[in-house]
Amino acid sequence: MNSSQQRLLELRDLLNRHNYNYYVLNAPEISDRDFDMLMKELEALEKEFPEMDDPYSPTHRVGSDLTDRFEQVAHVYPMLSLSNCYSIREVDEWFGRIRAGLEGEEFEITGELKYDGTSISLIYEHGRLVRAVTRGDGEKGDVVTENIKTIRSIPLQLQGTGWPDMFEIRGEILMPWEAFDRLNKEREFNEEPLFANPRNAAAGTLKTLDSRQVARRGLDAYFYYLLGPELPFDNHYDNMMAARSWGFKVSDAMTLLKSVEAVDGFINHWNTARRELPVATDGLVFKVNSLRQQLNLGYTAKSPRWAIAYKFPAERACTKLRFVSFEVGRMGIITPVANLEPVLLSGTIVKRASLHNEDIIKTLDIHQGDMLYVEKGGEIIPKITGVDAEAREPGAEPVKFISHCPACGTPLIRVEGEASWQCPNKFGCPPQIAGRIEHFVGRKMMNIDGVGEETAEQLCTLGLVRDIADLYDLTAGQLMKLTGFGPRSAERVLEGLEASKSVPYDRVIYALSIPFVGDTVSKKVAAAFPDIDRLMAASAEELAATKDIGPRIAESITEYFANPVNRRTIERLRAVGLQMSQPEEDTEGHTELLDGKTFVISGTFSLHSRDEYKAMIGRNGGKNASSISRKTDYVLAGENMGPAKREKAASLGIPVIDEHQFLAMLGQ
Ligand code: IVH
Repeated sequence: MNSSQQRLLELRDLLNRHNYNYYVLNAPEISDRDFDMLMKELEALEKEFPEMDDPYSPTHRVGSDLTDRFEQVAHVYPMLSLSNCYSIREVDEWFGRIRAGLEGEEFEITGELKYDGTSISLIYEHGRLVRAVTRGDGEKGDVVTENIKTIRSIPLQLQGTGWPDMFEIRGEILMPWEAFDRLNKEREFNEEPLFANPRNAAAGTLKTLDSRQVARRGLDAYFYYLLGPELPFDNHYDNMMAARSWGFKVSDAMTLLKSVEAVDGFINHWNTARRELPVATDGLVFKVNSLRQQLNLGYTAKSPRWAIAYKFPAERACTKLRFVSFEVGRMGIITPVANLEPVLLSGTIVKRASLHNEDIIKTLDIHQGDMLYVEKGGEIIPKITGVDAEAREPGAEPVKFISHCPACGTPLIRVEGEASWQCPNKFGCPPQIAGRIEHFVGRKMMNIDGVGEETAEQLCTLGLVRDIADLYDLTAGQLMKLTGFGPRSAERVLEGLEASKSVPYDRVIYALSIPFVGDTVSKKVAAAFPDIDRLMAASAEELAATKDIGPRIAESITEYFANPVNRRTIERLRAVGLQMSQPEEDTEGHTELLDGKTFVISGTFSLHSRDEYKAMIGRNGGKNASSISRKTDYVLAGENMGPAKREKAASLGIPVIDEHQFLAMLGQ
């Protein structure tokens, strides 16, 4: 072995240690930058000596290629659940049952946090992670080893001594609050559905087929149960401490408790202290410590008798209703919102909570100035769950639903068959107009950069845009009148409008804000009625005959096109050059200029949208990939491509090109 090869092995050990310091101990010894430098040095050496590749190398934690689907395997030990209880009294009763079951023998209990993620079983052989399996149905689960390997706090190779040759360790895969907030912000920006809580986010991520995606999402893992024929100690606590010394993240909260008073104290402490934790917990778990005693106590059909889960009470706060506001959506639906005296709930300040519709206000019997109970269960959206009627001021009036639109004064109408009220003034009600503009310019619709919620509102209040078609008449001079706009930002909007003329027909349909016609429906409609004239002429029966289009959607579409105002909008949009038909299945635009070349697109562009670039790559014989790997031929980079991607491309020697260079490749 030469000195470079020796350095390669040394770097692997070094990086494993720093990974452990950073992800498990939360005590990094070197800066992120220095860590990245070491990683790059290792990547370069591994490229130089491919024969020394090792699937356990820290470089493999960035994730590998796509897996088609997950293989399933049977668990060696079935994954049971715990019996739940909801009060200190019930935990004390369980304690009493244990005492009785052990017939007066001394015993100890471990108190632990109940992590609210998704459970995982890891199999280690000879100190190495060989398999990771989800809970599945408890008997068998999905093999997700590649995804699990991207979680940096999970040791791929154990450290220390004393681990059995073969064992299983169970724990919880979690998405820390910080990573969860970041992910949801990103999803909001991309107009993707948000995850309701970190548990769903962690479970969803773990089942992602592309482990490179998993690597980006910042998952973490805590371990709480060791199984196997030869464990180092005869009790749970010492086994977990041993696991900690092998490199697993075992919570510091785990405590040995010797009396019922100590158990109660543990509950009282964590009922509030859990709010400070970086990850979600939904309760506590108590376990009999001795493995022999566990065996004696045994199992019921579903869960061990030697353990119990105590669930935290749903976080609830009581706060004063300041007033109910009524908001008008893009489709004119009125949503009542409770505006509250700010109150702290599960780590965030709550000031507003939707009351959804009139029926809910009536059912809860909300009066002016009432004290309202706000809850945040597992979900992040606060919910009004009740009223403290005793605290009601004498003479307080019940909250009344409005009869006229708060924005334009039009009398409201009740939506047929539903609990909601609607403002029928579609074309004159400012928030409806602004909402339609905002929707029209959205990323998944016409993708016009630089027009957000505030700009849409301003365009509307200044009377510059009353109809989405007016957008195409805007001049740089008009745009520059808007707050925060200069020549550059005005130019960007105009360029975006120009580029939107090549947005495909199905997205144009989506952009129109036809009630019930979303992303998926618009694609189906466009495929069945490949140009706008055919669509406008279609009867409700013809539309409803289309697969996946029900009578309600069909009626909504015919109603939309029956309206002369909408028809005029369509004609104006057609006149400015928007795509009003499916492209002919033309092989015309197809070339082999990019034959077999794989592209990764990143960042935002000014000449065409990302989707258009993707389509161009496809039409010209190239392939699109979602993340950079050795198989990538080019990275097509727009503005604000992340530095991590840039570095990755540089480290693999992949050319990064801008949109002009790309278009030049196509002779444009
Ligand atoms: S022990 C046989 N300990 O809760 C006992 N489970 O309802 C095995 N969980 O599926 C589980 N924190 O996903 C145990 N400290 C903890 C836990 C914990 C979270 C989850 C786990 C399990 C579920 C049981």
